[in-house]
Amino acid sequence: MNENRFSGVRACVFDAYGTLFDVHSAVARHQARLGGLADSVSALWRTKQLEYTWLRTMMGRYVDFWQVTGDALDFALETHRYEDPDLRRDLMEAYLALDCYPEVPEVLQALREKGLKLAILSNGSSDMLKAAVESAGLSELLDASLSVDVLHCYKPMPAVYQMACDHLSVTADEISFQSSNAWDAAGAATFGMRVAWINRFKQRPERLPGRPAAELESLSELPALMDD
Ligand code: LAC
Repeated sequence: MNENRFSGVRACVFDAYGTLFDVHSAVARHQARLGGLADSVSALWRTKQLEYTWLRTMMGRYVDFWQVTGDALDFALETHRYEDPDLRRDLMEAYLALDCYPEVPEVLQALREKGLKLAILSNGSSDMLKAAVESAGLSELLDASLSVDVLHCYKPMPAVYQMACDHLSVTADEISFQSSNAWDAAGAATFGMRVAWINRFKQRPERLPGRPAAELESLSELPALMDD
């Protein structure tokens, strides 16, 4: 079945938030201050953050992901009736030092040993990505962290996926793109990349164009797929 789904791949490109980094680890660190509403705050924060990226792209009103993340947090905190500037500050700070998923360092190392180029392609601002990568100790394992900041639009705009091809000097078909976000997986697949949808949250497939070449539970299964 599907043996050669990833043959000819020369670069592995990763979405950052939700794929390499656990976005819910920010709220988890301050769970006691949010009580029983912690999960609800975290989920709404993430949902609004993504919605604002899409809406601002359509409106032609780009602001960077740090601003979007803060706006989304304000919406989530206000919805849950938290008005605590210290909590807001601490949650934003935590976003700069999110936990990476446990398998990430060894998976990146294994892919490097196979001679693949490795990069992040993210909606995150350059500063946010730098902070998260350094805090998780991944700097030495990645060839590049590419931010949409230079383009002033967000995924899934095709121009964002093109940036990875340009920077890594490979064609779309030579990239394996990994994302836990099904909409991002769809965006990369319609662009022409080989896609591994890291379905960490056991979601139903989106009804969108662009099928992933593989659906995995975590990144751990990825290196073996590159041996095809
Ligand atoms: C990113 C978001 C979409 O890292 O997760 O681009």
